Amino acid sequence: MEKILAPSILAADIMRLGEQIEAVKNAGAKYLHIDVMDGMFVPALSYGMCVVESIRKSCDMVLDVHLMIVEPGRHVEAFAKAGADIITIHLEACADAHEVIRQIHSCGCKAGVSIKPGTPIEVLEEYLDEVELILIMSVEPGFGGQKYIPESTERIRQTAELIRKSGREIELEVDGGVGAGNVELVLEAGANVIVAGSAVFKDPAKNAAEMMSILKKWD
Ligand code: DX5
Ligand code: ZN
Repeated sequence: MEKILAPSILAADIMRLGEQIEAVKNAGAKYLHIDVMDGMFVPALSYGMCVVESIRKSCDMVLDVHLMIVEPGRHVEAFAKAGADIITIHLEACADAHEVIRQIHSCGCKAGVSIKPGTPIEVLEEYLDEVELILIMSVEPGFGGQKYIPESTERIRQTAELIRKSGREIELEVDGGVGAGNVELVLEAGANVIVAGSAVFKDPAKNAAEMMSILKKWD
């Protein structure tokens, strides 16, 4: 599967967001990862659908919206209307994730499911027939700039195997603590969508280009 860079704007300079998005896009990033936090599912607050809507108006990248919010079904329609292309929910945050996935699809978006580092991989099994993307968190969700949890590599490998067995084309995304120094570990384990926040936005054009040159070797 094509290897895709998904820069996370959590680490961007909000006052220069437009030019920084342009820089990562020109470097070859296809997805733009937008982290939505509610202060409940994770301690921090970030931003909501207004930001997605505003980005959508002047950005043709795939908007990859990562909902770190309790009962995400309450807001799926609004994020879809705002312009999300992919909506990823946390299995730990939903009473009925099957229903939320159905909602995401009925809004015309691709659906992803994510799990935190402490959640067993097996919980993903019952969603393999339904989703277009699985997101393995390689840090505790909630903050950018954390260190990659080494055990994540084995979890990525196991998830890649589940996907392979399903026979479906499901994207495998990894999020948290990934940069030029360890991205090959993550690719080797089977991921194809790489989220990177602090590793990219310190110097967006240069760092995204460096990440892309590594990703291209693995295509
Ligand atoms: C963390 C977010 C990530 C975050 C990644 O909860 O889901 O997307 O922005 O940041 P880095 O790449 O700095 O670990
Ligand atoms: Zn994220």
